[in-house]
Amino acid sequence: MTLLKLKVLRFESLPSTNTELARLASEGAAEGLAIMADEQTSGRGRLQRAWSSPKGAGLYFSILLRPTIPPNRWPLITLMAALAVGDALREACGLTTDIKWPNDLLSGERKICGILAEAIETPGGRAVIVGIGINLTQSAFPAELANLATSVSKAMGREPEREALLDALLQSLSRWYPLLGQPGEIVAAWSGRSSYATGKLVQVNNGGEVMQGTTCGVEPDGALRLRIASGEIKLVRAGDVYSVRPS
Ligand code: BTN
Repeated sequence: MTLLKLKVLRFESLPSTNTELARLASEGAAEGLAIMADEQTSGRGRLQRAWSSPKGAGLYFSILLRPTIPPNRWPLITLMAALAVGDALREACGLTTDIKWPNDLLSGERKICGILAEAIETPGGRAVIVGIGINLTQSAFPAELANLATSVSKAMGREPEREALLDALLQSLSRWYPLLGQPGEIVAAWSGRSSYATGKLVQVNNGGEVMQGTTCGVEPDGALRLRIASGEIKLVRAGDVYSVRPS
């Protein structure tokens, strides 16, 4: 069982907490080093997208992990992080969230948090930077995303306390991280908290490939199982998943 020794560095402004932490990891930083910034000038999201990160509008956070689980189980790290964020939002803010595969946290079907896990090679071995962006206020994202995104302040009806949320997140990461050694626990907990785990009609966009089907569980390595029209089960390991309203 791996326990996390946490240390948090705080910055007013960084290009990206993930990029800065990758730099520190390549210089030998230890597992558990975390970074929080008040703003990011080049925040990054999944699939090479930008992550809008105005000052004070979001919780911009990254943590360095050096997992010892087999590499084919590393996709579970993002599922584990989503569980930890869900706990933190519940404990610090009283919010109940859904998880959209693999790791978007939703409140009322709108995105409230995104997670970007990036594997890197360092002199101390392979590591992963888990970057977490939680929308604290509506100004965390551009107005054109207002139908797709929401914020902690909108969901709570008042300004959230960033420090309390950060504390809850550090504690929940410490609780969930050791469970990576028990993949069944992670998959079962994730499936219990995600309306996307089973019976959801979805479209998956992965680069140029588009697939539609009904979700039917998660593999032990975190891949989403999708039953397509022919009845065949496809495994989804990458891409964007969108809920489709049955016609
Ligand atoms: C997504 O596309 O949903 C993932 C967004 C991840 C954003 C966070 S904010 C902190 C960390 N630093 C970054 O540049 N990105 C992640």
